[in-house]
Amino acid sequence: MMGFKPIPLFLLPLLIFTILSRADQALGSDQNRHVRHRNREALAAAGGVGKVALKGRKQTSGCNLFQGRWIFDASYHSYDSSMCPFIDSEFNCFGRPDKQFLNYSWQPDSCSIPRFDGQAFLNKWRGKRVMFVGDSLSLNMWESLACMIHSSVPDSKTTFIKRTPLSSLTFQEYGVTLYLYRTPYLVDISKEDVGRVLNLGTIEGGADVWKDMDILVFNSWHWWLHKGVQSQGWDFIRNGSSLIRDMDRLDAFNKGLTTWAQWVDQNVNISQTRVFFQGISPTHYMGREWNEPRKTCNGQMQPLTGSTYPGGSLPAASIVSRVLSSMKTPVYLLDITTLSQLRKDAHPSTYGGDGGTDCSHWCLPGLPDTWNQLLYAALSM
Ligand SMILES: *[C@@H]1O[C@H](CO)[C@@H](O)[C@H](O)[C@H]1NC(C)=O
Ligand SMILES: *[C@@H]1O[C@H](CO)[C@@H](O)[C@H](O)[C@H]1NC(C)=O
Ligand SMILES: *[C@@H]1O[C@H](CO)[C@@H](O)[C@H](O)[C@H]1NC(C)=O
Repeated sequence: MMGFKPIPLFLLPLLIFTILSRADQALGSDQNRHVRHRNREALAAAGGVGKVALKGRKQTSGCNLFQGRWIFDASYHSYDSSMCPFIDSEFNCFGRPDKQFLNYSWQPDSCSIPRFDGQAFLNKWRGKRVMFVGDSLSLNMWESLACMIHSSVPDSKTTFIKRTPLSSLTFQEYGVTLYLYRTPYLVDISKEDVGRVLNLGTIEGGADVWKDMDILVFNSWHWWLHKGVQSQGWDFIRNGSSLIRDMDRLDAFNKGLTTWAQWVDQNVNISQTRVFFQGISPTHYMGREWNEPRKTCNGQMQPLTGSTYPGGSLPAASIVSRVLSSMKTPVYLLDITTLSQLRKDAHPSTYGGDGGTDCSHWCLPGLPDTWNQLLYAALSM
């Protein structure tokens, strides 16, 4: 269906071996028989394509979903924002007069993305729990997935609970729950005598509820750039044993993300949970990145053509790749940075309803729907 190259049969024993040795590392030996059985089933179900072993290795599948371009496609139908009860006003671009940004679809160079089928998603993940963990870009993606599924089964009964830090949406007939856990840095902020402290080395607060999910999608970056005690949400950073006022933000991000990686390696059971990292979502405040020096995302009506962003890659994205590659847990990187950099036209700009120009978040419907299509594609690999 997706045009992936089949894995040559002679590689299968190697795949099975890889799966089993990973499982052996992760589990006590009394559990191995069960896991072995499970993996054989998974392999058989996937026609031997080894979906368990290959998650997180996008190159091996024969198609890089994230390498491609945007094409104008007037036949593409998204959901209608007025029919989706889960969209925050900050992402609702209903008042935006130009609608063309809704008519672009992402086309990978060497395969096509499967059509998103919300009903099939609910059937496949019946009784399961999906959680997005991170900042408002997680909120953006969570609401998008909620709308995409809801539009497939508009009459299905739902329970929607919006709270801080944990929100949830349950599709009751299917027992599928989409959770959102808001924690902009992933690592802890604790209240201490000196004030609020961003602890680069600890993840405790809330992390227990991240356990026992079937799908986890993490994200963090934007808040690491926030400066000033008001907008950054902390007064001091704890770096190892020292308490400091500030430090290089990329270094801080690297340390925080490394702490997260250790948490995942120690706490996630890979025979139950598939782990994704949402990738770095870019902003479009600086038109010089795409050769329009005085512009922002405001008034942009078209994506950039081609498959590279003139402004280049983001240092934070290299940190993400490096940290993920050092992990024992296979974490699938939804590598959405470049494809999102090309979408200078897809932000709420002045239509998001908070009075300013928002070139950080994304309209719904819109770009995060593509992120979810890619998540869906990755889950069906
Ligand atoms: C964009 O797609 C919608 C359907 O989603 C369609 O009604 C509309 O005509 C398309 N716009 C353009 C400019 O083709
Ligand atoms: C943070 O701690 C590391 C040692 O763990 C040290 O090498 C580094 O210089 C510290 N950074 C700052 C800004 O204090
Ligand atoms: C991991 O998950 C599997 C499948 O749900 C379960 O059987 C096993 O006991 C879990 N292992 C640990 C160490 O919790």
